[in-house]
Amino acid sequence: MVTAALGRTLVVQRSVHSSVIDGLVLSGLKAAFVQPSVDAEQGIAHGVTAGALATAIAQHPDAAAAYIVSPSYFGAVADVPSLAAVAHAAGIPLIVDEAWGAHFGFHPRFPANALSQGADLVTSSTHKLAGSLTQSAMLHLGDGPFADVLEPLIDRAFRLVQSTSASALLLASLDRARMTLAGGHEALGASVEAADTVRAAIRSLGRFAVVSDDFPRFPDIVEADPLRIAVDTRAGGISGHEARRRISRDHQVMVEVATGSAVVAVVGAGSSPDTDRFIEALHGLPSPLRDSGTVERLRVTLPQPGPSRLTAREAFMSPTRAVHAAEAVGLISADTLAAYPPGIPNVLPGEVITAETIRFLQLTAAAPSGHVRGALDPGVTRLLVVDTPA
Ligand SMILES: Cc1ncc(COP(=O)(O)O)c(C=O)c1O
Repeated sequence: MVTAALGRTLVVQRSVHSSVIDGLVLSGLKAAFVQPSVDAEQGIAHGVTAGALATAIAQHPDAAAAYIVSPSYFGAVADVPSLAAVAHAAGIPLIVDEAWGAHFGFHPRFPANALSQGADLVTSSTHKLAGSLTQSAMLHLGDGPFADVLEPLIDRAFRLVQSTSASALLLASLDRARMTLAGGHEALGASVEAADTVRAAIRSLGRFAVVSDDFPRFPDIVEADPLRIAVDTRAGGISGHEARRRISRDHQVMVEVATGSAVVAVVGAGSSPDTDRFIEALHGLPSPLRDSGTVERLRVTLPQPGPSRLTAREAFMSPTRAVHAAEAVGLISADTLAAYPPGIPNVLPGEVITAETIRFLQLTAAAPSGHVRGALDPGVTRLLVVDTPA
């Protein structure tokens, strides 16, 4: 909503959180998407390179801003200085979704935060890893070339979406989290040490693999968040979903996310978890995939999205109807549909649904570790489309 005053198109990483698509609905901006790199083995999406962003911006002279995510759900950190340089050279601000990086910059072992690296606007879910109350977050305005333009626009947009009765409880919890980060050098170091201990044990025990050890292969990743422990469980003979279920049920250890091939554990900034408990829980897991001789290989080839006919806002505001998948081909989607893995939206509101996309969504939904977020039913047999007049 802030950047709608600066242009017509948001140049945006395709694998953004659904809240960004909601932002497109609110702002009415068109979107030009930049594909992230994908680890086809793991079935996960990473970030975008400065080169890919520059190409996308060059194709859209009406660009309002560039929008990227760093770090990723798996802790992959993007080259924010280069991305900011590319955006600024094109005369637009860089917005960074740093939802998972509220702790960045507060300890020498943490990556630098996007704000200090030239980003113009940074969203930070302080409640995720920095310990403020759920629902509280921060929006940071950078002190860069767009600060004066953006500040009044932020005030205006913020007034529009905020409650007129701000919660002192949430605000105080943000301040408390800020204080803990700013003064918690020792505790933050202990959190990193705990995560290092787990990673070292996983490497030396040899059954599982550490996903971030493979990050140097990807041109968009410059660093890994040390507080994320992404474990390739499939290498150890068990799917991520099954590993997560058992670790939670048998050991009361909650991991943040599971995919068909991995679990991602996170250590809260400033907390010192019982590392032995997690290491033992992990290595006590059975190896059902190995026993059955079917260690699933995930190979993801994404279908090309259909052309965009309406903005996300226009699609959202239109009348809709549910149709059978076969009838949906050639119609305009009213929903966001994202197949997991790797969770990159395959269809967005306003885009034409293609036969190739439906085939991909249905195949993913039918796989043991796959599902389609946003679908009307688990098998994707029906889709919500814009009800255009005949
Ligand atoms: C990358 C990313 N951005 C934004 C969000 C939304 O953050 P919040 O829960 O603070 O609304 C999430 C939530 O998981 C996320 O993963």
